[in-house]
Amino acid sequence: MQTTRVTDLIRLDHVWFRSQFAALETARDDRDALTSLWAALSARLEVHAAAEEALFYPRLLKDDSDSVDDTKDAIKDHNEIRDAIHDAEGHRIGDDAWWQAVNATEHANTEHMEEEEKGPLIEFDHAASSDEQAQLASAFAAFETEHAGARGISTADKDPEEYVEDNS
Ligand SMILES: [Fe+2]
Ligand SMILES: [Fe+2]
Repeated sequence: MQTTRVTDLIRLDHVWFRSQFAALETARDDRDALTSLWAALSARLEVHAAAEEALFYPRLLKDDSDSVDDTKDAIKDHNEIRDAIHDAEGHRIGDDAWWQAVNATEHANTEHMEEEEKGPLIEFDHAASSDEQAQLASAFAAFETEHAGARGISTADKDPEEYVEDNS
């Protein structure tokens, strides 16, 4: 029987992020559509990063001794994504300054996803057992459901060094 891997749940979120940034472009002239698309997308970006930080990276650090640098890079990237989202929140949806912040979010997120897909996700596929993948997948899905809409999570930046110390 095929089991779900947490790495595949993460990849599926990444596919959805790419599609939703494209949907924003398509809705360029429709402020109502931009408002609902961005509310869902920005919240999911926050929850996805929080879920990775709560569940995926701590496990990667334990399973793969070379993962310290990858993890620090990921936390830095998550901070960049969070900062750009927070910047967008200060502007009227559809205005130039808002688009600038949204484009910065997309840029930071696209680079970050590519790095995750080339590094940590593959490393974890090699290091983790299928039981571990499955257990983490159900925890990841439960986290994203529990915190849907970014409910009850911190969207504050994290210190990469402290994060690695706390989770090693
Ligand atoms: Fe991710
Ligand atoms: Fe990430």
